[in-house]
Amino acid sequence: MTKINKIGVFTSGGDAPGMNACIRAVVRTAIFSGVEVSGIRRGYQGMLESDFWTMNARSVGNIIHLGGTILKTARCLEFMTDEGIEKAYRNLKSEGIDALVAIGGDGTAKGALRLSERFDIPIMCIPGTIDNDLYGSDFTIGYDTATNTVIEAIDKIRDTAASHNRMFFVEVMGRDSGCIALRAGISGGAEAVLLPEVETGIDELISKLSIDAKNKKTSSIVIVAEGDKSGGAYQLAQRVTEKFDYYDVKVTILGHLQRGGSPSSFDRVLASRLGYAAVNELLRGNSGQMVGLRGNTVALTPLSEALNASKFKLEEDLMEMVSVLSI
Ligand code: F6P
Repeated sequence: MTKINKIGVFTSGGDAPGMNACIRAVVRTAIFSGVEVSGIRRGYQGMLESDFWTMNARSVGNIIHLGGTILKTARCLEFMTDEGIEKAYRNLKSEGIDALVAIGGDGTAKGALRLSERFDIPIMCIPGTIDNDLYGSDFTIGYDTATNTVIEAIDKIRDTAASHNRMFFVEVMGRDSGCIALRAGISGGAEAVLLPEVETGIDELISKLSIDAKNKKTSSIVIVAEGDKSGGAYQLAQRVTEKFDYYDVKVTILGHLQRGGSPSSFDRVLASRLGYAAVNELLRGNSGQMVGLRGNTVALTPLSEALNASKFKLEEDLMEMVSVLSI
């Protein structure tokens, strides 16, 4: 087992609230263990440009409560080429980095897997994305905060919907995952939730809304995951309005505000636990794994398995519960 003298840490892909808490935990755990830390700015792009920052315990002071990432992030296609990955590895070696902690989503884990397969460099990945779409962790860093942001918006929309007897289609992020939509739909008391994982026909939605109308529901909120197959909130609202005119229909697209904000306590603790564990696992000689939280216990999942989308399942019982609790 090669001795680790310097760990490189970076954030990659879409930023997520809690990434700074995670960077803080990685830096301080490494330094506590006598290991130097080099922050790599802008993810894999910064690796290609040798954009390194020698970090110490003070570098991560007063950031635990900040959204975004002090290391910045980027999406980098060049890294996925043979020339790109070889250049990145050379730059890491020149900087004296002999292990890596990657904080990000599935794209980050894909890059980390390629790097660890091509070169002899220990890597641990930490699930940092609001999408909550990585197998091997019950929660990804940022998911809880993003969902809280969504329900704060839904609660505000509900005030005006109830005042005007209106129906709102609210579109949320999540890429191909319905996790944000499902959790926000339940906690926001939505009448319906449309998910990429479930085919919802327009007629099925209208029959549900018609029952609501018969039951004298004067307002309605429908959460639409951006990856839903119906084509998004505007197209859905148009199709419903053509067949069902009981409500005055409006649309709200929440967009990138779901990515910002001060991380929740849950995300700060999750980020701290996973950052702390990732460094300790590297020092124990582990590599090529994603550190996650499973049943409130830190667990390791091989990167190839974490990236296997077919293993990721949305909770069936929660989907059934939405239709029951929205009668
Ligand atoms: O992966 C996080 C995420 O916010 C997705 O939910 C969303 O589809 C995507 O990033 C948006 O990407 P960008 O910030 O590049 O527009």
